[in-house]
Order: sequence, then C-alpha cells, then structure tokens
Amino acid sequence: TILEVDAAQRLDSRGNPTLQVDVKTIAGTFRAMVPSGASKGRHEAFELRDYEMRAYGGQGVLAAVRNIQRVIGPALVDKAFDPRYQQAEIDNFMCHLDGTPNKSRLGANTILGVSMACARAGAVASDVPLYEFLRREAGEIGPYVMPVPFFNVLNGGRHSGNTMAFQEIMVAPTGAQTFEEGVRMGSEIYHALKEIVAENFGAPATAIGDEGGFGPPITQPEEALDLLTAAVEHCGFTGRVKFGIDPASSEFFKPDGVYDLGYKCAEPNTKTPDQMMQLYHNLVAKYPVSILEDPFAEDDWDSWARFNAATASEIELVGGDLLATNPCRVRMAHQKKACNAMVLKMNQIGTVTEAIETAGLGKSLGWSVFVSHRSGETTDDFIADLTVALGAGHMKSGAPCRGERVAKYNRLMDIEAELRGSWKTWVYAGERFRFPAEI
Ligand code: PGA
Repeated sequence: TILEVDAAQRLDSRGNPTLQVDVKTIAGTFRAMVPSGASKGRHEAFELRDYEMRAYGGQGVLAAVRNIQRVIGPALVDKAFDPRYQQAEIDNFMCHLDGTPNKSRLGANTILGVSMACARAGAVASDVPLYEFLRREAGEIGPYVMPVPFFNVLNGGRHSGNTMAFQEIMVAPTGAQTFEEGVRMGSEIYHALKEIVAENFGAPATAIGDEGGFGPPITQPEEALDLLTAAVEHCGFTGRVKFGIDPASSEFFKPDGVYDLGYKCAEPNTKTPDQMMQLYHNLVAKYPVSILEDPFAEDDWDSWARFNAATASEIELVGGDLLATNPCRVRMAHQKKACNAMVLKMNQIGTVTEAIETAGLGKSLGWSVFVSHRSGETTDDFIADLTVALGAGHMKSGAPCRGERVAKYNRLMDIEAELRGSWKTWVYAGERFRFPAEI
C-alpha cells in the first residue's frame, strides 16, 4: 500500500517550475515529474499554476505541491490502495476527489504526477518493468512493438526564435531494422543537418530550440524540408526515412478564419484554409511526408474534415490540439471524420488510466496512436515505456539531442536490449508504424 505521497517544485527543460512527486511504499520511493506544453490546446485539462507574479513570473506550482501534501496524499494513504492492482481505482479516485470535468480544482499536472509515480510503484511491487505493467493495464497482447522515433530536427513556431511559422519538422527512420539503428540514423541525419545549416546560414544558426532541433532563419516549410532532404541524402538514407510535419496551426489561426504564416515576421502572410490545403498537398507530393499533425486549428472542423476526405488516409492526419487526448473530442472527431490518428499526451488529460483508455478508444476506431512528449520536459522517461506498452508504433520526443529528449530514446534502447535478451517476441514497427497490430 501507499505509505506517503510527497511533492516538490523543480525545474523543467525551459527553466520553468514543474512538479516532482514521490510515492512511498514498502518497496521504496517512486518518482515522477510532469511536463508542460508551450503550444497548448484550448481543450486540454487544467494545468495548475500559482499566478503569484513575484515568483517565477507566476509559473510556480506550489499550490499543486500543497494539493498533494494536504489533499491527495492523505486521502490515498487513508484508502490503503494497492498500486499493483489498483491503478484505475487510484486514478478514478483522484478524479472524483477533484470533482471537475477538466481537473481545475486540484490540477491535471498535480493528479498526473501522482498517477505516474503510482504506476512506477505498481510495476516494482509486481516485479515487472514499467512497460509490462502498463501493457497489462492496457490489455495489450501480441508481439512487443518497438516504435519508430519521429525526431524533430527543425524547430519553429512557439519553440524557436526564428521566423518559421511551422513548429516541427520531423524525420523518421522507417527503413531501419531496429530502434537502435533508427536512433543511429536519426543522430547521423541530425549532425549532417547541423553542417548544412552552418554552411547555409553561419554557425550561429545552429543554436537549438525547445525540442533540440535547429532554428535557422527560414520562414517557408519548403526551405526546411529542402535542408532536411539534403541531410538525408548526405547520409545515404534516401528512401529509408519519412518526414513528419507539425505546423501547430492553432497558434497562427486568426479569428477571421485565415492562417497567418507570417505571424513571427514583420509582414503577415495569410492563407485561407483552401490555400493551406493546397500547400499541404504540394508538400506531400514533393517530399516523403507521412504525418501531418494539427495542420488546421483546434476548432476548424470543416477544414479538417474536408482535408481528411481529400487525402483518403494516404497520410496520417493527426489530431493533437484538436483532440487534447480527450475521449469526448476523439468521439466528436470520429463523428465528423476529421482525422485518422491521435496524439497521446498524458498531461492533456491528467491520469495514466485515462490516457490508456483514450488510446484504446482511438485504436477501436481504427486510428493510429502517436505518443508524444511536451516541449517543456524533464528527464522523466515514462512515455518510453508507455509507447511500448500501447504498441503505438511511433512516438516523438524531439531531436536526438538535449538530456530531456534523449532520456526517452535511451530508455527505449534499454527496453529493446531487454526484449532482445528475453523470450518475448518483438518487432520494430518500421514502415508499418501506423498500424503495428497488422504486423
Ligand atoms: P507543446 O508541443 O508541448 O508545446 O504543445 C509539443 C509537441 O507537440 O511536440
């Protein structure tokens, strides 16, 4: 059972406060740290901050710390939950304790930290790795699937000081044989890209953004994809990689229904939804783009649905801000035929159990599940285990650079090594990353 729950305010990768949670059981102390987004969706669960402007510009999480020490912790101890078998009960109990639809009383960040730490306690008490514990929670069977990593190597949008509106340009080693080989390909491409950026824009342009990718002074997505194509060619990986684009377009959607690709430039560069669709069609025709995440704003349903119909599933159209890892939004999107995949960000919904359930709902609709970090991260590597547990087939944790990004990739290499040395059947998702269950 849980003996004590404690919490503390620590820093995330952007230097902002975040929550650290310790759950104590007789087996030891189990820690989790909570991430935070920059391009947050409007429909995400509530992230509790202090709004006390004298400290950390109002970003403190001491109220969340207090909620754990005074409310959640004592209540969990009192209930004598067993983390081995009661992850869902623990998570449901915290949701009821909060009592609001979006966790606005206790905070989704508060609840998530406890939920993650309890899962770690449950795994150790059950004497299994975390991915195994979460896999049981998810009811997954079949071969273990190592995901394709989508490395975000060029940063724009809210994650970089450059003028590129699109937030993330990703490269994915779908032609690798193993996750480890995929990491090597990603790292080699990343370093080739660094040289190319330096040659084209000078060494200062190799400074990196929030997710470890470069932020050269470019504005157009084609410029980014041309740089990436050159790096891939330089490494001899042409044909063995796919690209992913996350424009995070809610950030530059204007109230009059247009998208401003010049939102970080001196001059606006507005495009209608139809012009955006044409832009995406051109990019998909010219480059090996297999994923488009949030190409339209979180409430621009009409554009989503029209584009989804036009692309007929040939690319993965992923709802991030659109869905906010929320089952109600997932159902709504399914009804409107808005997309064919979901991003899974645990802190958008607030418990491990709900995240697993939302992923299950997505899969039951025939969608792909794309597990994701946040731009404000910590070295907590929980999502690596979660990705394997869900058999999600692909995940993103930024560039193969910066401690908080590589923590997840390194953990995945550990998991792969463990699977290789075990009796378990496993595969690298590779080209089948969208529907690994079919492998
Ligand atoms: P965000 O972006 O955390 O700033 O929302 C993260 C991502 O989608 O990579």
